[in-house]
Amino acid sequence: MKAALKKATRSIVLETGAAGLITRGFHWLYYQSGAWFENKFLGYPIYQCPLDLQLYQELIFRLRPALVLQTGIAEGGSLLYFASLMDLIGSPADALVVGVDICLTDRAKTLAHPRIKTFEGSSTDLHVIDRIMSTIKNQTGIVVLDSDHSKTHVLNEIALYKQFVAIGSYLVVEDTNINGHPVYSSFGPGPMEAVREFLRSDNSFVIDDELWKRNKFSFHQHGWLKRAR
Ligand SMILES: C[S@@+](CC[C@H](N)C(=O)[O-])C[C@H]1O[C@@H](n2cnc3c(N)ncnc32)[C@H](O)[C@@H]1O
Repeated sequence: MKAALKKATRSIVLETGAAGLITRGFHWLYYQSGAWFENKFLGYPIYQCPLDLQLYQELIFRLRPALVLQTGIAEGGSLLYFASLMDLIGSPADALVVGVDICLTDRAKTLAHPRIKTFEGSSTDLHVIDRIMSTIKNQTGIVVLDSDHSKTHVLNEIALYKQFVAIGSYLVVEDTNINGHPVYSSFGPGPMEAVREFLRSDNSFVIDDELWKRNKFSFHQHGWLKRAR
């Protein structure tokens, strides 16, 4: 009881007190600096906050997924990161990393890792999803949504891709920080608004805020959704 109260108080102080303001300020400053846009993994640009890459590493080690599926590949750094982690932990050879992008870049086309399968087309195009399904067979695992961040597109993606999330695993709705949460306020309804709407009508996923809160912030805060059933 005492421990729970201490934890709750700490979380309120972090979010609303001076610490919360500093965290939001730093989050905004780091995002605005564009430093994360310069990050590379094994030479491939990876448009992620390093704090979030730490969390992906922990999830992949803990869950040992048979599949990591990402919408929005860009230059391919994230796909290579996921595949390399799966190699490091000795995942079976048939554990796959699947990516889909509306337009594959020249750099992404050079990805030559045996686990990585890429698809070109819109993530919500049913023909593309059919092709993905015939590649992954019935494998499920972690799904990461990082393509078109408009609320409508993200809601469509959630509806189409939640089936690929294993029970106990994660659907990560990325960039929930945009539209003023606390960055890029002019964006309009985006991933955070999509998450809120989705969770109002679906009880098979729960927000896992414990996962990222020790790091104080995440570009995908409140977007780490755990499949409960
Ligand atoms: C933020 S970048 C992805 C960054 C990448 N996941 C990473 O971690 O480095 C967004 C990508 O989504 C792609 N995209 C935009 N609309 C899309 C759509 N409807 N379907 C699939 N990909 C889309 C863009 O072409 C772009 O490469």
